[in-house]
Amino acid sequence: MLLQGKKAIVTGGTRGIGFAVVQTFLKNGASVALFGSRQETVDKALAALKAENPDWEVIGMAPDLTDYAAVDAAFAEVEKAFGRIDILVNNAGISAREPLYDYTPEAFENIMRLNVSAVFNGCRAAAPRMKAQGGGSIINTSSMVSLYGQPSGVGYPTSKFAVNGMTRSLARELGRDNIRVNAVAPGVTRTDMVANLPQEIVQRVCAPIPLGRMGEPEEVANAFLFLASDLASYITGEILQVDGAAQT
Ligand SMILES: NC(=O)c1ccc[n+]([C@@H]2O[C@H](COP(=O)([O-])OP(=O)(O)OC[C@H]3O[C@@H](n4cnc5c(N)ncnc54)[C@H](O)[C@@H]3O)[C@@H](O)[C@H]2O)c1
Repeated sequence: MLLQGKKAIVTGGTRGIGFAVVQTFLKNGASVALFGSRQETVDKALAALKAENPDWEVIGMAPDLTDYAAVDAAFAEVEKAFGRIDILVNNAGISAREPLYDYTPEAFENIMRLNVSAVFNGCRAAAPRMKAQGGGSIINTSSMVSLYGQPSGVGYPTSKFAVNGMTRSLARELGRDNIRVNAVAPGVTRTDMVANLPQEIVQRVCAPIPLGRMGEPEEVANAFLFLASDLASYITGEILQVDGAAQT
């Protein structure tokens, strides 16, 4: 019960890594507001969680994360429901692998809007609330490609390098307000994002991983749990790799 009584928001919480983070936080005593891209998938996730444990305090909504006013309004709604916001997980993200020669400027802007601007919007909406209540913990979902780049689909690693920059910078800026800002950088993790990749790419990426396999969403979620909890009370500005020591 590492998060007993804590109130959390998890974006992209309807499936994959985000859903595992929501489950892990609930199991550890937190109340959670999960954000998804559509109310329909939010309701489905809420129903699955309520079926697992009807006592869990979990709510959900689908604000447009790329619209700051919508994000701020959603945070106000969560604050009204829970009384405070202790933890923010900026997890929603999309990936793309087009070679540069086929990459449209629109596709590049699209990925930056969700993977970078939406993370800014979340931090911007959370920080004043956390400051007013005496502190908090923000955790952004980065990626192992934020360290190594990747040989195709330049928008995705570019966006995750930006997430690392925002994480390290805001850790320095917000430390005095007792707000810790960290990131988790997962390697290849068994989610829909990976299920949509061609099998030969998955095999090629997994082959050199020293632990010999891809990660499970629950294994990644445990890193979020650690960083969100008081066990990590002196850790900020950290990019925690959860990738089986992969280097691609
Ligand atoms: N799966 C991996 O191998 C892997 C590796 C490294 C990093 N990541 C990162 O982990 C995070 C989650 O990825 P995942 O694999 O669980 O993906 P996923 O596709 O299974 O889930 C993505 C989540 O983001 C939400 N989302 C997508 N587009 C959205 C939008 N426009 N507005 C609001 N929400 C939106 C979805 O509702 C969903 O909850 C992403 O930031 C991703 O870049 C994933």
